[in-house]
Amino acid sequence: MKVLVTGGTGYIGSHTTVELLANGHEVIIVDNLDNSSKIVLDRIEKITGKRPDFIEGDVLDTDFIVRVLKDNRVDAVIHFAALKAVGESVADPLRYYQTNVGGTVSVCKAMLATGVNKIIFSSSATVYGDQPIPYTESTPREPQNPYGRTKFVSELVLADVAAANPDFCAVALRYFNPVGAHPSGEIGEDPNGIPNNLMPYISQVAAGQREKLSVYGNDYPTKDGTAIRDYIHVADLAEGHLAALQKIYDPGFHTFNLGAGHGESVLEVIVAFEQATGQTIPYQFADRRAGDLAEYYADAALAESQLGWRVKRTITDASADAWHWQSGNPNGYKNVV
Ligand SMILES: NC(=O)c1ccc[n+]([C@@H]2O[C@H](COP(=O)([O-])OP(=O)(O)OC[C@H]3O[C@@H](n4cnc5c(N)ncnc54)[C@H](O)[C@@H]3O)[C@@H](O)[C@H]2O)c1
Repeated sequence: MKVLVTGGTGYIGSHTTVELLANGHEVIIVDNLDNSSKIVLDRIEKITGKRPDFIEGDVLDTDFIVRVLKDNRVDAVIHFAALKAVGESVADPLRYYQTNVGGTVSVCKAMLATGVNKIIFSSSATVYGDQPIPYTESTPREPQNPYGRTKFVSELVLADVAAANPDFCAVALRYFNPVGAHPSGEIGEDPNGIPNNLMPYISQVAAGQREKLSVYGNDYPTKDGTAIRDYIHVADLAEGHLAALQKIYDPGFHTFNLGAGHGESVLEVIVAFEQATGQTIPYQFADRRAGDLAEYYADAALAESQLGWRVKRTITDASADAWHWQSGNPNGYKNVV
């Protein structure tokens, strides 16, 4: 298949591109490089021996996406391009609605204009909000912040477009907490400034770039008092996209949780990282952060039964791979010549 991957130079998009190329698909990446680098293309080529086509541009430019779809005879779209920082979305919600919801509307318009009927969309476990665990796909969606609401509204857009267009197939994949890197150490998560996520933060502490980790909250009603999340290796996530691309053809709107189906506490992640890497992670306890939930994890049974997909890798694998990436690329893709 010929696949348009929006946001394909980003963290999850680059790993999924590797998986697509390794399985014989052709990839055209569209990215405006807002949060990524063209160096990723060299790295993807180094891993796979194939260079994806790349066109710099914005998903909000519908005419541009129409041209890309037409000129390249694209069969399906995987739509990663979005903004993803929860705190930023609280401070600047319109930017998030514009890029995330507007981007989804724009991509769908371009698809309808060109007869491309299949889209796989990056959704998130944040669409659920504070609900009983584990989350199944039918758990009510009550996102707690603007970022989560942009994902929820984008899902509604896709469901409505699928309802109005009988050939349209939209698959929303609700990711839990993506971690790790490609085992080659060539591609990985490259946050700008202070990392928002736990594993990149731990990696930077291990590398001596940050003094210590703050563990937000040690009085949650969990086994050790720290917050529990469902961590999923980014290579498992990439395989989930391949499964959705190859197995789901029925028109309509489909959703799948992509998670491990169990959670790890912050302290368990620290121990796993230390054991996998031999590094020591100094940490201190800090107050809970507003809006953080105590514990959530996926019920991933639907993905297993319908996509034939389940995670293969552990938090220890993810830690080893994240450290391989971090130690080989202390500044991420920055300053690479
Ligand atoms: N990483 C996570 O923890 C996580 C969890 C759940 C869902 N998601 C979703 O997965 C997707 C990918 O996330 P990621 O972690 O790879 O993020 P990322 O920032 O690494 O990748 C997103 C890419 O989209 C590009 N982009 C942003 N706005 C664009 C625009 N208007 N036009 C074209 N390109 C644009 C960026 O330059 C970047 O390369 C996002 O939709 C995100 O919301 C991520």
